[in-house]
Amino acid sequence: MDKFIINGKRKLSGKVKISGAKNSCLALMPATLLTEGTNVIRNAPEVNDTYTMIKLLKELGAGITFENFELQIDTSKITSQVAPYEHVKKMRASVYVLGPLLAKYGYAKVSMPGGCAWGPRPVNLHLEAMEKLGANIEIEGGYIIANAPKLKGANINFDISSVGATGNALMAAVLAKGTTKITNAAIEPEIVHLEEYLVSMGAKIDGIGTNTLIIEGVDELHPAEIENIPDRIEASTLLIAGAITKSKITIEYPFANHIEAVIRKLESSGVVIDKANGELTIDARDLEIRATDVTTSVYPGFPTDMQAQWTAYMTLADGTSTITDNIYLDRFKHVPELNRLGADIEVRNNSAIVKGVKKLTGAKVMSTDLRASASLVLAGLAAEGTTEILRIYHLDRGYQRIEEKLQSLGADIKRVPTEEY
Ligand code: EPZ
Repeated sequence: MDKFIINGKRKLSGKVKISGAKNSCLALMPATLLTEGTNVIRNAPEVNDTYTMIKLLKELGAGITFENFELQIDTSKITSQVAPYEHVKKMRASVYVLGPLLAKYGYAKVSMPGGCAWGPRPVNLHLEAMEKLGANIEIEGGYIIANAPKLKGANINFDISSVGATGNALMAAVLAKGTTKITNAAIEPEIVHLEEYLVSMGAKIDGIGTNTLIIEGVDELHPAEIENIPDRIEASTLLIAGAITKSKITIEYPFANHIEAVIRKLESSGVVIDKANGELTIDARDLEIRATDVTTSVYPGFPTDMQAQWTAYMTLADGTSTITDNIYLDRFKHVPELNRLGADIEVRNNSAIVKGVKKLTGAKVMSTDLRASASLVLAGLAAEGTTEILRIYHLDRGYQRIEEKLQSLGADIKRVPTEEY
């Protein structure tokens, strides 16, 4: 078990490269199950979730190598269509194997995802989409058992926009017989990237990047290679690291359009952000943080995956801000921990009311989930004195050695082994 020790109030400077996106990689990897042969995914992040997905795909019979951020996934000998509980309980994204297994093999037995630190995070939309495509779905002993000799094209409308359900429906529809129309499809960059990968495998998808997708089923797909996009949440998190420490830093990140909502909010809070040559430079050296309200929404709105990080940032603002999460109504486990650092936050329904304070003071705090951990790191960077963050295995799920990135920018942060839990 590791913990972070951060000595705060250090100014940051310099440049850091953003790693490959976790949430696109977790969709691209199961998509390879639709093919038979060796697929290549470059710029895959070395984060725990990638390794969890590797274990799951190996469990199904895939041959996988992962070196220099490049995944080679050989799906020519898939021997099982069962995704067991021990993998799925660790990572909800494991449910992404449902669509491809059903489409390619006509059968899938996938454990129901376990709980998260926040939620509920049901999968009803995934299952309804599979049924629309002609699958028979039963829930037995905590498992989804899906059968479909041959999926048939259908009209699928999502009552609410769902990244995962859109991904699963897409990966099922590409091999279904006939035409599938998906309306209210998610348009997060990770889903658009999945659409591009499926097309490179030979899938026929119209409306890429829009909320309405028309998929013409094909008989088979062939292995393909793709360069994974960089991680918009890591990029946004590091921009906030620059803002909360009142520093000037540059991130090598060429997709500013993927984080427009975060950039706009950062500018409203008083920082200056320049885009040039595939990089973003944030200058917060003379910053008086302006209290700036945020309400999360689906893309291109402000991402729920940045809600905790924004809350940390607003703890030091010059007034009171309201941060509302409309995607996950109870994603506030970071609040009690931030208050231990001297923040003044009150949770009311699905909003955090943050009264800015003059300073945060280092303390021992505990990670509860991936993005909550990131918010504690950000607060620790700005707090006076030493902050210790326990259970950073949560952070390692989705950030590739964030302490090394922050050290390269001048932060005083160390990863140390600990018996503390
Ligand atoms: C993806 O999760 C991301 N994970 C999450 O990132 C992210 O928070 C979420 O999208 C929202 O942007 C990956 O991409 C691996 P959803 P997903 O289905 O697909 C409800 C992180 O920190 N819903 O878009 O599970 C759901 O409860 C992670 O990197 C249903 O009701 O999210 C939520 O309120 C955390 N029924 C809303 O839809 C369903 O069947 C959006 O969820 C599915 C979802």
